[in-house]
Amino acid sequence: MPLSDTTITVIGTGYVGLTTAAILANVGFKVYALDISEARLAAIKSGRSFFFEEGLDPLIEKAVKYGSLIPTNSYEESIPESKFIFSCVGTPDNPDGSSNLDFVYQAAMTSKTYLNDASIYIQKSTVPVGTGRKIETLLSDESQNIAYLSNPEFLREGTALKDLLSSDRVVIGGDNQDAKRILKELYQLVASKRNTIAELGGIPIDPVDTKYFETTLESAELIKVTSNAFLALKISFANSIAKLADRTDADIVDIMDAVGADRRIGRSFLDAGRGYGGGCFPKDVSGLIASASDYGVDLPIMTAATDVNESMPGYIANKIQHELGTLKGKKIAVLGLAFKAGTSDARKSPGVKLANIISHAAATVTVHDPQASEEAATDLRKEILLASSIDEAVKNCDAVCVATNWKDYAGLDFLQIKSIMSGNIWIDCMNMFSPIELQKAGLKYIGVGRH
Ligand code: UGA
Repeated sequence: MPLSDTTITVIGTGYVGLTTAAILANVGFKVYALDISEARLAAIKSGRSFFFEEGLDPLIEKAVKYGSLIPTNSYEESIPESKFIFSCVGTPDNPDGSSNLDFVYQAAMTSKTYLNDASIYIQKSTVPVGTGRKIETLLSDESQNIAYLSNPEFLREGTALKDLLSSDRVVIGGDNQDAKRILKELYQLVASKRNTIAELGGIPIDPVDTKYFETTLESAELIKVTSNAFLALKISFANSIAKLADRTDADIVDIMDAVGADRRIGRSFLDAGRGYGGGCFPKDVSGLIASASDYGVDLPIMTAATDVNESMPGYIANKIQHELGTLKGKKIAVLGLAFKAGTSDARKSPGVKLANIISHAAATVTVHDPQASEEAATDLRKEILLASSIDEAVKNCDAVCVATNWKDYAGLDFLQIKSIMSGNIWIDCMNMFSPIELQKAGLKYIGVGRH
């Protein structure tokens, strides 16, 4: 049977699961998108995603219409006929920072009854090193020997389709060489259709020379968390130097442009600002610290990265206070609640933290986001006002903070904005604006490590 005639189940329809399922369904596979959330399944059935991700809806719509993407809540319906089972369930963090693997184990244990010797169970969820070995043992018994692979996902929210269709690398870890080979073939088949799928999603993709890494289970698990931890480290490093730049006449953007031009270092993930947020970096860093500690290893370098990151919203609030004399009674707008541009995700969002800190200091805070207001609402203090337009948010404000680098904010008419503000303080929490342009409009520019 040709590979494309096989059936696939993707368990979990979050950012990773749904994007993977939508792509595979457009490659020509029959794909079950399995989830316990009826709301998510209903959204998929109607041809769209429950979250905002550029280019994803056309893929879902086409595949659902064509019948190749089938939303279901039934393991019994989907797993028995599936050759590949991708586990993409959530791994939220426990209060102590370790990863909560309940969904990962539940998905594996529920699947177990319906798996057969031909099934390949693939872990895409980010799990602490050593988890795969335990699941492998759980899945196999005297009656069956299930191939278990770790195949971590490196896509970013906001550029999920692009990242999946033009991956720098595919990592496949495990002991079963045949299963590894077949999974690699699946990815090569996806790569052969990448241009057509990108066109359908309306997203541009660059040519790419994907590297395949075949490793042990443990290496694959560690590759994923190490990548995220290193990127988080770069951001916290940039933020540490930004604090020093603030005390001098240095400019963090100039510094990192020049430092990052050294190919040994690289420019990416050296943008200083309000720190990292989202469903991955904060959780993966704390998960790595906790799992290393389980093996008796201290990772003080990662604890420092976390501390720096957590200090950033408060550091920015102090800057505003310094400019205004006090926060009490001042009117301040925070533009940007998504943890980054291009997504409606507001989990662990630095913009939300900043708004809460300023509001807690008795300022009147209005917030705006083009996509994430609804998701952010539950994490915002009840005193904070959600504005439905940028003008409504900034009207009569003493200071405006831009906490997410949305295109809508980059192209603002600063003269018009200044004319409806009552003050002139502009806090560029993403270092995304030209200080000169803002100054020309009569605004006082305050960046992070930038004047
Ligand atoms: C991250 C990784 O980049 C992906 O490779 C990985 O697959 C994903 O986690 C995951 O584990 O699922 P993501 O969380 O979607 O992706 O977002 P990023 O683009 O990495 O941004 C994370 C945070 O860092 C954002 O809040 C962003 O604003 C911030 N950031 C990023 C900075 O503050 N400075 C930078 O220079 C870059």
